[in-house]
Amino acid sequence: MNVLAKTPVMRITKIKDHIGAEVTGVDLTKPIDEETRQRLYDAAVDNVALVIRDQKFTPAQYANAARLFGELMEDQNRRYLAPGEPMVSTLSNHNKDSQGNQAKVVKSATWHTDHTNQEFPPKFTMLYAVELPDSGGGTGVCNMRDAYEALPDDWKARIDGMKTANTLISSARTDIGNPDILRDQQNAKGGPMIHPLVRTHPERGTKAIWFHTGKTEKILGMEPQETQDFLAELLETAMRPEFTYVHEYTLGDMLIVDNRSALHKAGFDYDHSQHRLLYRALVRGERPE
Ligand code: SIN
Repeated sequence: MNVLAKTPVMRITKIKDHIGAEVTGVDLTKPIDEETRQRLYDAAVDNVALVIRDQKFTPAQYANAARLFGELMEDQNRRYLAPGEPMVSTLSNHNKDSQGNQAKVVKSATWHTDHTNQEFPPKFTMLYAVELPDSGGGTGVCNMRDAYEALPDDWKARIDGMKTANTLISSARTDIGNPDILRDQQNAKGGPMIHPLVRTHPERGTKAIWFHTGKTEKILGMEPQETQDFLAELLETAMRPEFTYVHEYTLGDMLIVDNRSALHKAGFDYDHSQHRLLYRALVRGERPE
């Protein structure tokens, strides 16, 4: 008797009430139909963080999978690209700076969203696990839409309308491990990029707290140190464990973060003699409003 191989069925399962969903039964190296693509897109937007399991990508295949979610944009750090694929960069604790020294991974990774010093920051950050330490090194993601909604009204009134001034590295950030990035900041042309501290999701109309701790030079009307203290207090007030999910990777996981509703943060809790290598792809976003 011939036994036909079963076509896997794509399943999307929620991880936590407020954040995260997991997808199994799909192979993004193969064509998918429009309905499947839209289900994945909506799952990423609605759940803020989406984990697609069991993928096996070359860098070029990864870029193509990421393109299912929109037009890719270049990582602004062009030094650590994946082999043969300019739209995919590598995040590695073993990357070297231009002097050949291992670029230090800073202990104090902070909550952030990517590329806020640009006019059109990425709407999705996508991370793909290529090499992993034995344990730890997850990516934390916080649902800043629900965090905003849960804020007391006086906090909402205080932060609605605030604007941040964004640079490649804020002057308050003293822990940069990579001298090349410091040089880029010194050579940066033009003034800071101004963005709202609370942005509205262009597809859902929801509001979210949105900033990069290490790129916010100041909130307009505040001094830089006052800004850092204020942002720390805001996070302390707004973030709750139920809004936060730490994705501990398995090889082949593709994690998609909807940056318009999230902040994220790299874990430091692993043996740094072991290699943590993620591929990162960025999908171009709208101007935050
Ligand atoms: C990122 O900040 O885009 C990457 C986070 C991570 O390395 O887990």
